[in-house]
Parts: sequence; C-alpha cells; structure tokens
Amino acid sequence: MPDGAATATPDPRIGEVLVTEEQLATRVRELGEEISRDYAGRDVLLVGVLKGAVFFLSDLMRHLEMACEVDFMAVASYGSSTDCSGVVRILKDLDVSIEGRDVLIVEDIVDSGLTLSYLLRTMRARQPASLEVCALLTKPERLKVDLPIRYTGFEIPNRFVIGYGLDYAQKYRQLPFVAVLAD
Ligand code: IMP
Ligand code: MG
Repeated sequence: MPDGAATATPDPRIGEVLVTEEQLATRVRELGEEISRDYAGRDVLLVGVLKGAVFFLSDLMRHLEMACEVDFMAVASYGSSTDCSGVVRILKDLDVSIEGRDVLIVEDIVDSGLTLSYLLRTMRARQPASLEVCALLTKPERLKVDLPIRYTGFEIPNRFVIGYGLDYAQKYRQLPFVAVLAD
C-alpha cells in the first residue's frame, strides 16, 4: 500500500452537518413512539418513497409497536437534479391495494411539496381509510403548496442537503448524518 493511502481525503462536497447521527437517532425514536401511540391497535401500511426514504423508514419501523407492513413507490420528477418541476411520473407503483387501509407515507424530504402533493392526490383517489405523511425533513421556506404533514422530523433552512438517504446525483446516501452539499 502506498504511503498515506490509509488516510481518506475528506470529500469537499460534504459541507456543514445540519443534523447529526445522534440527533437523527433521538428524533426517529420519538417519532416512532408518537406514531405508535396514535395508531395503537391498528394495522398500518407504511409507504416508502424510493429511494431516499428507505434509510429513514427502516430505522423508524424498528420503533413502531403497532402491526405494520411496508410497501414502496418510486417516482421521478422532471427537472434538474436539485430542483423539482412538479411534474411527477410513477416509476414503480405499490404492490398492494390501499383501499380501506390506514396508510402512512414516509418521505425523506419535502422541498417544494409538489411531489408529495401529487402522491397524496393519487393515493386519496384509491380510497384508503386514512392517509397521513411522515417526513424526516421539511424546508418551510421552499414549500409551494399547503400540505398536511402529520409528522415532521426536522425543519431545515433552504439548503440542498445530502446523507441519511438523501442524494446528490445518486451519491452520498450512505452518510450517517445530514449535511449541506458544499459548492
Ligand atoms: P419536492 O417535490 O420539491 O418537495 O421535492 C421532492 C424530491 O426532491 C425529494 O423527495 C427529494 O428526492 C428531492 N430533494 C429535494 N430537496 C432535496 C435536498 O435538499 N437534498 C436531496 N434531495 C432533495
Ligand atoms: Mg424523495
């Protein structure tokens, strides 16, 4: 091994940490407890939005005490990699019917809210018994539509963030914290 190869060079794109690993763990546990109380005795279908929500969802689910199942949707929004256009296309639909079910959408981040607004409309049309949203992060300054977000992990400023599932051009999802993408 060449000299110095064992010391990884810090990635200059990983900027200021906005939410630490410890803060994530604490808040995810709190959300899990709150959701468990609210849904006690019910059988909930968690709908994860691929791919970013997978990390949050799998941690959250381990703190849920009521019966629950999980399914996934994949959507693509037309636009650049850091801006959403509001035109959303379903790439992968749910495997199961949600009619008459208690559904909780689990999202990594709500930015303009346009993606979620589209998802909510699509899913409401399928007549679930209830439909709520749990988003790890929201950017209140960017929100363009009025959305009923029942559970929020953290409100963050208008910065593009990476880590804990969030990507920049498909990279950085594996970071255990949420950081600003440095330019
Ligand atoms: P929205 O439709 O504008 O709310 O944004 C929808 C999607 O854009 C999110 O589900 C993310 O996939 C992506 N996104 C928005 N902001 C960020 C960010 O700061 N980092 C990484 N992805 C983001
Ligand atoms: Mg997303």
